[in-house]
Amino acid sequence: MKHDVKNLPKGLRLMQDPTLNKGTAFSEAERDALGLRGLVPPHVQSQDDQVQRFLITYQKRSTDLEHYIDLASLQDRNETLYYRIVMQFIERMMPIIYTPTVGLACQQFGQIFRRSHGMYISEHERGRIAEVLGNWPRKDIRVIVVTDGERILGLGDLGANGMGIPIGKLALYTACAGIHPTQCLPVLIDVGTNNQSLLDDPLYLGMRQRRTTGAAYDALVDEFITAATEAFPKALIQFEDFANHNAFRYLYKYRDHVCTFNDDIQGTASVALAGIYSALRVTGKPLRDQRFLFFGAGEAGTGVGELVVMALIAEGLCEAEARQRCWFIDSKGLVVKSRNDLTDHKLLFAQDHAPLKETLAIIEALQPTVLIGASGQPGTFTQPVVEAVTRINERPIIFALSNPTSKAECTAAQAYEWSGGKAVFASGSPFAPLEFNGKRYVPGQGNNAYIFPGVGLGVIASGSRLVTAGMFLCAARTLADLVTETDLEQGRIYPPLAQIRDVSLAIAVAVARVAQESGLATETLPEDMEGAIRAMMYRPDYVSLV
Ligand code: NAI
Repeated sequence: MKHDVKNLPKGLRLMQDPTLNKGTAFSEAERDALGLRGLVPPHVQSQDDQVQRFLITYQKRSTDLEHYIDLASLQDRNETLYYRIVMQFIERMMPIIYTPTVGLACQQFGQIFRRSHGMYISEHERGRIAEVLGNWPRKDIRVIVVTDGERILGLGDLGANGMGIPIGKLALYTACAGIHPTQCLPVLIDVGTNNQSLLDDPLYLGMRQRRTTGAAYDALVDEFITAATEAFPKALIQFEDFANHNAFRYLYKYRDHVCTFNDDIQGTASVALAGIYSALRVTGKPLRDQRFLFFGAGEAGTGVGELVVMALIAEGLCEAEARQRCWFIDSKGLVVKSRNDLTDHKLLFAQDHAPLKETLAIIEALQPTVLIGASGQPGTFTQPVVEAVTRINERPIIFALSNPTSKAECTAAQAYEWSGGKAVFASGSPFAPLEFNGKRYVPGQGNNAYIFPGVGLGVIASGSRLVTAGMFLCAARTLADLVTETDLEQGRIYPPLAQIRDVSLAIAVAVARVAQESGLATETLPEDMEGAIRAMMYRPDYVSLV
C-alpha cells in the first residue's frame, strides 16, 4: 500500500498510529519528512533487531497471560511488528493470542485492559448504531467478527470481557490468511451479563445489568446487522461465541441474505470433518462405514454432525441413512425420539432407540467408531470409555474438542495411554508432542484457524454474496488433502501450523471456485486464481512512507 506523505499524520500522531508506526525502524528520510527528528533514538533499527528486542523481554515473562499482555500491547503500538512476530513464530504465538490463553485473558479482561480495540455496541447505542459505526476510522472493512460474550469458549458468559475473542480471531485472519489488519473490525454487542461475579466486580467494563433477552435483544442485533451491511457492504460477518439458543437462530435467520457464518457451528464442523478424513486414512475405513458418537449436542457437536451428513450425502447416501450414522449424547443422555425436551437442531439427530443415560452402556449398544467430544465437560472420556472404544475398534478415532485445555474431554496422554497408543486423537486446544512406548506422537489440534481465515479470504477475493455449507465441505477436503503421510505417521491429522498461510491460500482458492460455480461471486478472478489471491495477502513488511 503506497502512502501519500501529504495525508499522513506527522510526529507523535504518526507514532501513535499502530498501523503506520515503525518505532525505531523509521528511516532517516522518514524522520526528516514526517516530523520525527528527535522523537526517536538516533540509531535506525531493522525489523529483525526489533523482533530480537521484543523477544528478550517476552521470554523473561513467566506466565502466558503476561505473554498475552506483551503481544496485545505490541499490537496497539506497532501492528506490523506484531504480525511479523506472530507469523514468524505462529506455533508459539497462536496458543497465546488464541485458545487457550485468550480464555484466561477474557476472564481477566477488566484487569488487563490497556487500550480500546474494536467497537462496543451496547444498549446506549440502540437506535443510532449506523451513526456509531461511522466513528470507526476505516471504511473498507472486509471482515467483522462479532460476539455478545454469552458463551466464551467453554467458559460461559463473560459479558463484555468476551471482546478478547473477536480481537484474537481477527488477528488470526491477518496472520493466517493475510487479510489486511485495517480491513478487520472486532465488535462486542453488550446487552449485559448474567455472570454475577462480573456484575459484582468493580473493575468490570461492560453494562452492569442482566442480559437483555427476547425481542429487545433481537432488535439490537438486527439493527447492528443492517447498519454494518450498509456501512461496510463488502464485509463478511462472522458470528462468534453466541450461546447456542441464539447462535442457531441467527445462522438460519441471516445466512441466506447476509454474507455471514457462525464459526462455532460451521468452522468447527469443517475442521473436525477434515480431521475425520485424515483419520480415515489411518484406519483405512470409508466414511460411510463409520458410526459417530458425539458428546455434546450444541453448536460444535451438531454443526459437525450436519457437515458429516452433507459429506455422506455427497458419497451417495440418502439423508436418512447419513443421519443414522450420527448419534448424540447431551446433558440428559442419548438424543432419542421419545424425548420431549429436544430443540430443533437436536431433533434432526434424534434416533429411534430406547433412552440411555450411562455412557458405557451407550458405547456398548452403539459400537461407535468415532467419539467426538464437544460438551465443554472435562474428563468425560474416562479410562473405561477409551478402553471400551479401543475394544470395539482396532484404531478408535477420538476427538476431544472442548476448549480451553482445562475443558478437554481427555488429554492427549490419556487417549494414547488408555488406548495403548491406538487412538487417532485430536483436540480443540493444543497438547504438546509426547512419547508413549518409545514412539513420538504429535497430537492434532482441530483448530478452527485452519479453516475460517482461508474461507474468509476466498469469500473476500471472490466477493461472494453469501457463505455456504458447500464452502465448508470443500474447505475440509482441501485441508485434509494437505496432510502428508509423514504427518499421519506421527499421529498428526492436520498439517503443521507453520504451513498455515499455504493452507489458507489453498482453501481460499477452493472457496472462491465454489463461489464462482454457485453464481455467488461478484468479483472476476483471473485464470491464475492462486497467484491473484496470493498477491492480495498482507505481509508484515514495513512499507516506505516517503
Ligand atoms: P453448547 O453449549 O452449544 O453445547 C454443549 C452441549 O454439551 C450441550 O448439548 C449440552 O447438553 C452438552 N453436555 C453438557 N454436559 C454434557 C455431558 N456431561 N455429556 C454430554 N453432553 C453434555 O457449546 P458448544 O458451542 O457446542 O461448545 C462445546 C465445547 O466445544 C466448548 O468447550 C467449546 O470450546 C468447544 N469447541 C471446540 C472447537 C474446536 O475444537 N475447534 C470449536 C468450537 C467449540
